[in-house]
Amino acid sequence: MAVEWCICEKRHFSELQHEAEARGWTTVEQLIEAGLCGTNCQFCVPYVRRMLRTGETSFEVGEGDAAPPDSPGDASSAAPSVSPDPTSDLDPPQT
Ligand code: FES
Repeated sequence: MAVEWCICEKRHFSELQHEAEARGWTTVEQLIEAGLCGTNCQFCVPYVRRMLRTGETSFEVGEGDAAPPDSPGDASSAAPSVSPDPTSDLDPPQT
């Protein structure tokens, strides 16, 4: 399954790319400020960022902002790891 849309704003990445080129924008923050993508869940943000960098408009899930496989040291940006938050406000389970 390919990632090709900002689902929240119902805009295909090719449309976002066209808008960015037409306005001379080079950052995803400019598209977000204009309300064209990334205004809600922000799932699309790393993909749009990569689109602006590479010109690609279709990605595999998790490909987003990841560096190409031949760029060592940047692979951790592909999918942030999730670990339990030791400072969580949640109470421990009652026994
Ligand atoms: S998919 Fe773009 S803001 Fe939700």
